[in-house]
Amino acid sequence: MASKVRLARRICEVQPSATLAVDAKAKALQAQGLDIVGFGVGEPDFDTPGHIVNAAASAMKSGDTKYSAKRGAELKRLIVEKLKRENNLEYKPEQVIVSNGGKQSLYNLCQVLVDEGDEVILAAPYWVSYLEQIRLAGGKPVILNTTEATAFKIAPQQLEKAITPKTKLFIHNSPSNPTGSVYTPEEIRAIAAVIEKAGIYALSDEIYEHLIYGDIKFLSMAAISPRLKELVVTVNGCSKTFSMTGCRIGWAAGPDEIIKAALKFQSHATSDPAAFCQAGAAEAYASRPASEAAVAAMRKQFDQRRKHMHARLNRLKGVTCLEPLGAFYCFPNISGVFGRQFNATRVNSPMDFCTVALEQAGVALVPGEAFGSSQHVRLSYATSMDLITKGLDRLEKMLNG
Ligand SMILES: Cc1ncc(COP(=O)(O)O)c(C=O)c1O
Repeated sequence: MASKVRLARRICEVQPSATLAVDAKAKALQAQGLDIVGFGVGEPDFDTPGHIVNAAASAMKSGDTKYSAKRGAELKRLIVEKLKRENNLEYKPEQVIVSNGGKQSLYNLCQVLVDEGDEVILAAPYWVSYLEQIRLAGGKPVILNTTEATAFKIAPQQLEKAITPKTKLFIHNSPSNPTGSVYTPEEIRAIAAVIEKAGIYALSDEIYEHLIYGDIKFLSMAAISPRLKELVVTVNGCSKTFSMTGCRIGWAAGPDEIIKAALKFQSHATSDPAAFCQAGAAEAYASRPASEAAVAAMRKQFDQRRKHMHARLNRLKGVTCLEPLGAFYCFPNISGVFGRQFNATRVNSPMDFCTVALEQAGVALVPGEAFGSSQHVRLSYATSMDLITKGLDRLEKMLNG
């Protein structure tokens, strides 16, 4: 029987988050007593550094449980300092918005910049939520496809060709979720030159800024020229850098009018994040030696896991994996497995591959379809070395056995 609930068209056209769906399916199987190795969710497995937890806990105990105007001002001041120190960007605190995760900052910005029918350009494979956030704002995603041949990075000419009179915004994400690719400063400058010439806006999602392995130096797009500072909004947050995903502290910095509009939007949607979580974030930016040491220790472990997972993936029959240089994901190409059968189930797509891996090997992966790829799956290595070995042993048995 047809449902009587008449939902708005807006939400009916949105796909649920595939990464959260995979995690839920894996957890449901675990609840049934099955031993599942989860490579699905993009969440650091490390504890939040102790000094950050202590600051949040004592803020809560001392009554920091109200609306956060005072606490918010302190955190914004510290974010302004961080942007100057680390990103060569000068902003006033009024040019910063603190949101419930980087996700909300991005959502706010789509809502205040994108009108019905506006085109928003982004590279595929892309992070799942960009596409739906663009659609929720009534915008039209314009996808630039990339492959291993360019290390999943777009060329400036590709962007130039895609720009039309309807283009409003470009979304840049480096290091990238899901591919782990990292643009060099030269590559960012070349893309920024196209943005500057066209006068379109850009969101630079820098949430994995501190998770780069190897020699590439991080560059914030907005720092390239004064004109770009008028066009680019920088988005970042504490989730990935400080392993604070559940605290929901993200932020954006950019031109006065854009941030003012985002603040107005957020004031009606959610108001600011929890005051005591903002206290934890303030501590993360204020106590630099402790935070930098904690981030360096996490990065070191991610790097070891990255190398291990990447090497093991390339030993699987039908699988090839480009070396990821940032974030905490491997994004192997599994098209060499297409056509093979596993216990009567034929694999012809990433979704098939993930179903077989979960049901027959007890390994949870995210299908590439969620990121705009018909040839890849995503594995997060934000999990222990033991679990990485166990999961890869299982995949090896399934594919090579
Ligand atoms: C590319 C990218 N941007 C933004 C986010 C948002 O993170 P949060 O809302 O936890 O700050 C994520 C989280 O997975 C991400 O991968």
